[in-house]
Amino acid sequence: MHVPTPADFHELDRWGIIEDPTAAITDYSEARERARWANERHQRAHDEHAENTSEAFLDDPQSYFRSLERPIDRPKWAYLKRRKAWFHPPVGWDRFAAPGTARLLDVGCGDGDQTLRVAEHVAGRWVAADYDGFPLEVVGVDLSASRVENARRLADSPHPKITVRFEQGDVLDGLGYADDFFDYSLAMGLFEVLDDDHATAALDEMTRLSAHGMYVRDLLDEYPGLQPRPHLAESLTDRGFESVASHRVFEEPFVEEGTRDPLAVWPMNVHQVLFAAASAPPDPTDRY
Ligand SMILES: C[S@@+](CC[C@H](N)C(=O)[O-])C[C@H]1O[C@@H](n2cnc3c(N)ncnc32)[C@H](O)[C@@H]1O
Repeated sequence: MHVPTPADFHELDRWGIIEDPTAAITDYSEARERARWANERHQRAHDEHAENTSEAFLDDPQSYFRSLERPIDRPKWAYLKRRKAWFHPPVGWDRFAAPGTARLLDVGCGDGDQTLRVAEHVAGRWVAADYDGFPLEVVGVDLSASRVENARRLADSPHPKITVRFEQGDVLDGLGYADDFFDYSLAMGLFEVLDDDHATAALDEMTRLSAHGMYVRDLLDEYPGLQPRPHLAESLTDRGFESVASHRVFEEPFVEEGTRDPLAVWPMNVHQVLFAAASAPPDPTDRY
């Protein structure tokens, strides 16, 4: 990926997510999902991504992430933050801005760019409502110390009432918080990198920690070493989280002739975006 230029940033703005942050949801259709494969640029980008999968990742994904060394500079981080906003529509995020929410958890937060978008969404809602806000803690956890270092260096709180904090941690070992410590948790691209046993363990731990609900974005396409899970919403229901929203989105806006991302970071993959709310949230007096 070359150093993004102001023109590259401007091109992303033309995707329309400033005017409508959920534009990816209306952009998707089943017909378009099929039509992607007739598109030579998408097919080639897909095949190149599949072929270039790291051997270390295929051998042992957890060791791969744990030992990953990937410092990122601010222009790339800012570009990817804006680029990824397309396929992380803020479905259900208004709940994070409502009084009663105190803590949010982003598991597998990577470089913290989408974690920061969550904090910015809340701050934006408060400002739009001319409201001062309330103390809110947003915690990002990732297995990769290098990515946590990136997040700490680059993701600053957008509002005086919001604390943004990043920790190195392994959700499979259990995160050291009390049951229902967080109001909501998010997993953006986490389950797709976990095998079935690990995905179950991660989901159990997030269920234990989340009093009110979960937001999930996860890949649905087939790639070596990645695990599409079209029935993930049912796994949430089985754990007491009822579906509030379930969508499919492309990784970038659909165009007949191929990718529109100026830096061509990813093919036009399909993802699921889920928001599920606890059907029987705990009594507040039973929480911490
Ligand atoms: C595909 S990346 C997604 C990163 C970020 N959420 C985003 O949307 O850009 C998956 C992330 O999950 C993290 N991860 C994998 N296994 C984990 C585990 N056991 N505990 C915590 N994080 C984990 C990886 O280190 C990686 O940063």
